Amino acid sequence: MQIEILKTSTIPGGKSYVRLLSTGTRPTSLGLTTPENRYVRERISRGQNLIELNHYTHMLYLLFLKKEKDYHTYMESVRKSGHQLYRRLSEHGTDEIYIDGRNEKADVVLSLAEGLTLSSYRFVKYITDKEKKQFRLKKIVLASPVIRDKDVERLNILVDAVFLCRDLVNEPVSYLTATRLAEAFTAMGRDAGFSVEVFNKKKIESLRMGGLLAVNQGSIDPPTFTIMEWKPPKPKNNKPYVLLGKGVVYDTGGLSLKPTKESMDSMKSDMAGAAAVAAALYAIARAGLPLHIIGLVPATDNRPSGNAYAPGDVITMYNGSTVEVLNSDAEGRMILADALSYAKQYHPGLLINLATLTGSAQMAIGHFGMVGLSNAPSKVFKKLQDAGSAVNERIVEFPLWNEYMEQLKSEIADIKNVGGREGGAITAGKFLEYFTDYPFIHLDIAGCAYVTKDYSYFGKGATGIGVRLLFEFFNNV
Ligand code: BES
Ligand code: ZN
Ligand code: ZN
Repeated sequence: MQIEILKTSTIPGGKSYVRLLSTGTRPTSLGLTTPENRYVRERISRGQNLIELNHYTHMLYLLFLKKEKDYHTYMESVRKSGHQLYRRLSEHGTDEIYIDGRNEKADVVLSLAEGLTLSSYRFVKYITDKEKKQFRLKKIVLASPVIRDKDVERLNILVDAVFLCRDLVNEPVSYLTATRLAEAFTAMGRDAGFSVEVFNKKKIESLRMGGLLAVNQGSIDPPTFTIMEWKPPKPKNNKPYVLLGKGVVYDTGGLSLKPTKESMDSMKSDMAGAAAVAAALYAIARAGLPLHIIGLVPATDNRPSGNAYAPGDVITMYNGSTVEVLNSDAEGRMILADALSYAKQYHPGLLINLATLTGSAQMAIGHFGMVGLSNAPSKVFKKLQDAGSAVNERIVEFPLWNEYMEQLKSEIADIKNVGGREGGAITAGKFLEYFTDYPFIHLDIAGCAYVTKDYSYFGKGATGIGVRLLFEFFNNV
């Protein structure tokens, strides 16, 4: 645990705290001294919403929260205020902060704590300087009569899960091979209480997972296929939910090598879908949600070598159908296809796939959301979209119209693995859908899983996207 969130009924003297106030609250009602009052009024008139008062033994932060047009936008602006506060705290070297939310609803206090906590993440494993390794913010204490222990517990779990996800995504392939990724999932299962089974290369060969094996051909490291399962007694759902995550631990493009300039720099993050799935299961299991959920992760790196799969190859997949590979950089769909066929045996009530699948999705919407494609009942998709809006991991729907299937027709095999420049995120989705026979939602997180510039409380580098979305969704189904 990197940061701890606690609850209290009173704020002890000498502790730095932030008071949450609605915009428009008159400073005179706050019990400040006359010069403080004047100072606060002057700051407000300059348009500041976060005002700091140095009380010698501690800092007092006044945070004025502005109402927004709707509830989700308001909660997001509160989380962003948490990020804003974090930056001030880290400049002051404050490692413990109390949140005085006596006049606010529980959600507001919790959202502030969420934004604040998520902002405090750093990937420090490889930094040798001990000082830099220290987390400045260690403890957040919520002083609010309306917050329940359960809320605090839930937030701690969620933050741990997001940080676990980010750690995995930030981890370079020099350490995080497919085997180590599976080991990390095993450890997460042990901690949270879900079961984990890992298929090794021999097992994958005996199952004839042709897609996964083809992508792995160029690698010096073996592939893995991980099955995670959370099955509490008396789950609410008869048919299990299945979560699938793309676990490409590094994507060079293979023989269809990516152009070196920058396009490969972030490709250690090509397993962000896998990390999000495992981290979401971690949160779900720790929170003890009464749902039967299975997580699947096919994993390998994608590299060129003397033995690498080549454009023009025809691959026989796990379900027996054949794929003409015309670009080895469209590797995600090859490994996911096998997992989608494998998932049929579970008769999923719904399968949700998370994958950094296409540059096309990234080009279309950037990093402020993800692309969603669905053949599930619209009510179900809408529910996932609502969860996305609630946690600001938003989903934009693209169509799965049948016409796009034309682009995947092959002369010499059942289907080909690329559909041309037009509608790239969609043809990728159609390719995946081909291997399903159950309600299916595919989330292309290529744009938002990893960012190269600071993005509010999502940070820089791995954002951990997908974890809060799935946890929110399953808390409400
Ligand atoms: N991992 C990439 C997609 C990606 C791009 C993720 C940018 C994150 C940021 C994926 O495997 C890929 O290379 N897709 C190709 C598919 C194409 C060859 C059909 C792409 O989008 O260019
Ligand atoms: Zn690729
Ligand atoms: Zn990829």
